[in-house]
This record gives sequence, structure tokens and C-alpha cells, in this order.
Amino acid sequence: MEKVTQLYEGKAKKVYSTEDDNLVIVSYKDDATAFDGLKKGTIVGKGVVNNRLSNYLMQILEKEGVPTHFVEELNDRETVVKKVSIVPLEVIIRNISAGSFAKRFGVEEGIVFAEPTIEFSYKNDDLHDPLMNAYHAIALGVATREEIELIKSMAFKVNSVLKDYFLKLGVKLVDFKLEFGKTADGTIVLADEISPDTCRFWDAETNEKLDKDRFRRDLGNVEDAYKEMMKRVFGQ
Ligand code: TMP
Repeated sequence: MEKVTQLYEGKAKKVYSTEDDNLVIVSYKDDATAFDGLKKGTIVGKGVVNNRLSNYLMQILEKEGVPTHFVEELNDRETVVKKVSIVPLEVIIRNISAGSFAKRFGVEEGIVFAEPTIEFSYKNDDLHDPLMNAYHAIALGVATREEIELIKSMAFKVNSVLKDYFLKLGVKLVDFKLEFGKTADGTIVLADEISPDTCRFWDAETNEKLDKDRFRRDLGNVEDAYKEMMKRVFGQ
């Protein structure tokens, strides 16, 4: 499968059309942004890590019954995925307090929740991705009630599968962001990526951060964290 024309360039990926109307090719960049693009940088090799990790995790999830956009990995940075229209919701699941949750509620990071939490943000950089509840999403026509229920159950399923998977690799899945898309026939599938850009990963023993927080917070060893996650998953 070949790239035909570039359809879109996002902060971390480019998307190309193919000869097949139902398929696109995503190409992962090393560009990193944080705080709505205010902070910019490069994480050398990030595109390769995110492409390979995300594809591998999506295949695990498919086997567990979660439909995803994944079709075929072409090379280290490029993957064929189903063409979808993205539901403009960032779906965030949390197992442990961190980031904006800790800030919003004035608590420390690292509180282990008895049950995972879910929240939605409206995917809109100009508005800084405001928090949105299910009623807001339905009122604004972002998704139907049935679609929201499906997205919620898929997101919790992703959490239960990946939480166990990463714990076996000595990694705590603290929180993560998912995006869902609708295919031409209206099926909702897991889309975008699952990677150290979109998840918080802490070493199970030391709580060392192995994700994009190292870039967001200028903690150093950013590339090493991505490489370490690659090593945990692929042993290389
Ligand atoms: P938060 O604590 O900043 O709300 O982030 C929660 C999770 O969502 C964390 O794993 C990082 C991820 N995330 C994204 O993937 N994209 C974003 O734009 C933001 C703000 C968070």
C-alpha cells in the first residue's frame, strides 16, 4: 500500500490517503508538543516507538474483543489504518492520581483509586480541550447516548486489559487518553494511538516516570524513557 496525498498534519502524526477510500496511512513524527502546542521539541526516535507500541497494543486489544482502526504496519513509522471520522472527545481513564486530576482536586500524585475514573474533554485546541460530560456531548451532537455508553465500556475494557498487561512488565498504567473514530459504516473503533505520549507509565518498583511527562516537566532522559518502554514490551 502506498501513500497518495497528505490529507492532514497533526502535532505528532501525518495522515495520507491511499488508493483505497476506506484506508489511510499514518506516519509518526518525532515532534513533541505540550500545553496545547505552547511547548515544542523533538524526541529522537519517538515516532518509531509510538508507531510500534501502539500497533502492538491495538492488536492485543483486538484479540480481547475491542475493535480498533489498526490494519497493517508498513514500516517503523508508517501504518495502514481504517479511515474514520474522529469523535471529538478525549476519553481519559485514571487508575492513580496524577497530572490535571491532582491539580484540579488539590491532591498529591500517586493515590491509587479503588475504581478507575473516566472523564471526557472536548477535543478543541482553541478552547484548550475543556472538560465535557456526557450530557454536554449529547446536547452538542458530539455523540449519541448509545455511542457514549459504547465508548465508555470500550474504554474500561481497554483499561482492564492494558493495566494487567503492563503490570506483568513491571509498569503501572497510571492514566491514559483514548480517541474513538467512526468508520464509513458507522462502526465505532478505537483510533489515534496508545503510547508514552498518551499514557502515564510509572515503573512498578521505583515509580520512575517512563512517559511524556519527562518532556512536559523537563525531567531529562526523555528518549531513554521511550526506549525503556520499547524494551519492556519488545525486549530490545
Ligand atoms: P492530564 O492529567 O494532563 O489530564 O492527562 C491525562 C492523560 O491523558 C495522561 O496520560 C496524558 C494524556 N493526555 C494526552 O494524551 N493528550 C493531552 O492533550 C493531554 C492533556 C493528556
